[in-house]
Amino acid sequence: MADLQVENLHVHLGDSYVVQGVSLTVGEGRAVALLGRNGVGKTTLLRAIMGLTDPAPRGNLLWEGEDLVQQPSWLRNKVGIAYVPQGRRIFPSLSVEENLLIAQRPARPGSDAWTIEQLYSLFPNLRERRVQRGTSLSGGEQQMLAISRALMSNPRLILLDEPTEGLAPIMVQRILDVLKEIRRKGIGLFLVEQNFHFAKELTDEVVIMQAGRLVYSGERLTADQISDVAARHLGFAVSPSPH
Ligand SMILES: Nc1ncnc2c1ncn2[C@@H]1O[C@H](COP(=O)(O)OP(=O)(O)OP(=O)(O)O)[C@@H](O)[C@H]1O
Ligand SMILES: [Mg+2]
Repeated sequence: MADLQVENLHVHLGDSYVVQGVSLTVGEGRAVALLGRNGVGKTTLLRAIMGLTDPAPRGNLLWEGEDLVQQPSWLRNKVGIAYVPQGRRIFPSLSVEENLLIAQRPARPGSDAWTIEQLYSLFPNLRERRVQRGTSLSGGEQQMLAISRALMSNPRLILLDEPTEGLAPIMVQRILDVLKEIRRKGIGLFLVEQNFHFAKELTDEVVIMQAGRLVYSGERLTADQISDVAARHLGFAVSPSPH
């Protein structure tokens, strides 16, 4: 089963105890949103799942019956977990197309591989700018490129860290549409997001992190529950409309 089980994960960075025993599951093809205020440890949790923290976390990261926690980072890509980091991290010396080609991995046996043409159909702006340097794109286009780059590895689960951060509403909508399409293809999502409505539109379950721990988990929230959860755990009011 391509579900990710995070079990009792702890991360220390320098003197900071950043992730303090987090457990959660992202079921196969499911979408889970992780919300929380600035600095609570969301990015560190994603980096730990991707094997990018030094030292490696304590705990277990189970994927298809295998524990990845002590495995090197590149193995995540190989087994079907991709990462779209906060701030996009586009390779500055490469063109748009080179950014995509460098991430290419074969598809799993029995499933179709994403092609560059399919990605250009999803994001026509990238086709127009295929020979430009990746970092010459707008923030929204760079986010499209970062998502496309993740898809080039033919993942079954994508971890996304604040994909809407700093983007204009029209770009947020565009990214939402594409992520919905990705979901329809059965790819799982684990999404860190500050935009509650965006998270709710896309995901089955919302979990909330405070000071290194998960303090709330809920599915199929109503508008009233959303307001209540946001006020109690995130310290802000959420407007009833998505805009
Ligand atoms: N390399 C590091 N060494 C020591 N402390 C770190 C390191 N990286 C992050 N931290 C600390 O860990 C805490 C969590 O940081 P993290 O970036 O994971 O938070 P976040 O929830 O993603 O925040 P944001 O919403 O701003 O993106 C912060 O207090 C940060 O200062
Ligand atoms: Mg972060």
